[in-house]
Amino acid sequence: MRFVSVEDLNPGMVLGRPFIGKSGELMLAANTVLSESLVKVIQNLRYSGLYIRDDFSEGVEPNDLISLELRINSVAAIRRFMLDMQSPGDSRITRGMENIKGLVDMIVGEISSVDGAMVNLIDLKSFDLYTFQHSVNVCVLSCAMGSALRFSKTKLYTLAMAAILHDIGKVFIPLPILNKPGLLNKQEQEIMKKHAADGSEYVQRKFHFNNTICLPIKQHHERFDGSGYPMQLSEGDIDLFARIISVADVYDAIMSKRPYHDAAMPSEAYEYVMGNAGGHFCPEVVETFVKTVLPFPSGITVRLSNGLTGLVYKNNVNFPMRPLIKIREQLGIPEHFLDLGNDPSALDITIQSFA
Ligand SMILES: [Fe+2]
Repeated sequence: MRFVSVEDLNPGMVLGRPFIGKSGELMLAANTVLSESLVKVIQNLRYSGLYIRDDFSEGVEPNDLISLELRINSVAAIRRFMLDMQSPGDSRITRGMENIKGLVDMIVGEISSVDGAMVNLIDLKSFDLYTFQHSVNVCVLSCAMGSALRFSKTKLYTLAMAAILHDIGKVFIPLPILNKPGLLNKQEQEIMKKHAADGSEYVQRKFHFNNTICLPIKQHHERFDGSGYPMQLSEGDIDLFARIISVADVYDAIMSKRPYHDAAMPSEAYEYVMGNAGGHFCPEVVETFVKTVLPFPSGITVRLSNGLTGLVYKNNVNFPMRPLIKIREQLGIPEHFLDLGNDPSALDITIQSFA
């Protein structure tokens, strides 16, 4: 399988994974051959890209920490819950939260069953489903970092609950501000900032969650150097879960297409996080992040410093920046493998960009 951005989709390509609609429904099964009209449908749904299957990428499987089914169910559950929050009806909200708790428990179960798992969050990114997919991605990544920090299952569950609910307060932000293309003005920024405290207050009032869940929600925009909000806390005064969630939050947000920026690729977001260790982010958390996230997930196409393009075929656990690349036949050079981590002839070759 390989990842193709929607602009590069062509009729005749074969879907590597099921294609999921906005409510979590199955729209197209894996192995569907794309027609011209299907390509247009997918492009109109504003997904950033998807995995296709072809001969060249045979043998490449994207690194998934949780099953696709669990991911889809979680995105659908958080979407339903946030929609239900906007209409009166306590029983639906209570049921919705029970559903989320069950799914978070499964997420923790799947992640803690894999030792030393690396995260790939490149898949399943649709502009319109951003908030819900983002909530699940932040939950998965936070939980993977917690697992790398050897948290107990109970602790992982609490972290994962806070992470999946971290932006729940966005329900209270007026839509024109939430979806505004372009930068927010000062007054709009102040309204937007309220989502952290509002979300925390909501889950405390409605579900009587204690501080282990409420504090990280309230503090997920605090910054290690004291430049965040709402309290301008710094360093160890910020709850550890909040320090973890803030890294996961920013990483996934940079990788997503938003009204005000295009999606960055995983390595760019990875470098951004590393560059902000000790600034915005807690250095110990960044250290854990580096061990948990793949800068070049298998299945993506990259351009190398020697002018060739190739597919990230397999990740190198010891050198995440130096994966095994499958080079396409090009410029008279036959198809071959290049192991950036172990091949002596590849020592001076670097990955320059995504192709
Ligand atoms: Fe937020």
